[in-house]
Amino acid sequence: MIPDHFQVIDFNRKLKSWYSQNHRPLPWRETKDPYKIWLSEVILQQTRVAQGMPYYERFVDQYPTVFDLAEADERDVLRLWQGLGYYSRARNMHFTAKQVVEDFAGSFPNTAEGLSKLKGLGHYTAAAVASFAFDEVVPAIDGNVYRVMARIFGIQSDMLSNEGKKEFALLARQLVSKDDPATYNQAMIEFGALQCVPVSPNCSVCIFNDRCFANARQMQGQLPVKIKKLTVRKRYLNYFMIRRGDELAMVERYGKDIWKGLYDFYLVESKGPVDSPDDLTSDEPLRLLLVQGRLREIPKLYSHILTHQKLQVRFWWIEMQQTDKIDLPQGMAFYSKSAVEVLPKPILIDTVLKEEKFL
Ligand code: ADE
Repeated sequence: MIPDHFQVIDFNRKLKSWYSQNHRPLPWRETKDPYKIWLSEVILQQTRVAQGMPYYERFVDQYPTVFDLAEADERDVLRLWQGLGYYSRARNMHFTAKQVVEDFAGSFPNTAEGLSKLKGLGHYTAAAVASFAFDEVVPAIDGNVYRVMARIFGIQSDMLSNEGKKEFALLARQLVSKDDPATYNQAMIEFGALQCVPVSPNCSVCIFNDRCFANARQMQGQLPVKIKKLTVRKRYLNYFMIRRGDELAMVERYGKDIWKGLYDFYLVESKGPVDSPDDLTSDEPLRLLLVQGRLREIPKLYSHILTHQKLQVRFWWIEMQQTDKIDLPQGMAFYSKSAVEVLPKPILIDTVLKEEKFL
């Protein structure tokens, strides 16, 4: 259902009026600074507004400009990001800050097209920054906006398919306000976040309930249509926490795997669940560690869900004597408690250290 010109004008007028009365006064809505807007969007791709707010404030506090972020040590950036997950976003953000400083003298490109050439800025983020900071007339279509459009205008194609995306994009280009695209885009996002919510929206108080396709047919639960399924890989991680007094051996993760740049413990991955390190003795460095130290099991089994992976994780302590001369596996080093505290770590590792009262 493609609305005509008058329907579009009427839709925008009602949406804007709803927004002026209902929107949350969020700090990134009070600025035209593309750096801060970009920061907020990267954080909000990762988490909800309430959880994202303290991260946003800490980042703006610590790195008030793109120059400050560009000059930061990556470890500190990852550390500030800790808990949000998906650490490649933080690394891309740091990379992009350096690129904006080096290639654009610190000024972000002012169009969605220019912005989308930067690392980590997808279609949505580029459009969001271009419209919020530079008032470019482009629709910013995030998950909230897909839902609002699908339900009100009855778009039933799969929002994850290429054809579906085209259909949504066509409608979005018609709807976006030519006079005030920034407010229009914020309003669509806010409408999806507050009124047209994913589960059990309260349609009786909705300003569009008289014209909404989904409301008329009670199809709120079926729209938007999302077909593509994620394949989730199950992994079994066995961690060995090598301790010598108040020191703990840690290693920086590298390569093309989860948690690159963060610190964890000696890791042996297995094909299935493992009850005892005896099942892992084909791992030579582990065999050596087990003869050097005293093993203590942590009985709790940890599960950790990432976007494409489900981790089942076990931990063991290996306790060494202060006086022992220890052969640590390659890349590992001992860190004092206060050093461990400030290293960037996956949230799971941080949790275990706290539950074990090491931190
Ligand atoms: N989610 C993504 N972008 C947002 C924004 N600008 N305001 C509120 N929630 C959002």
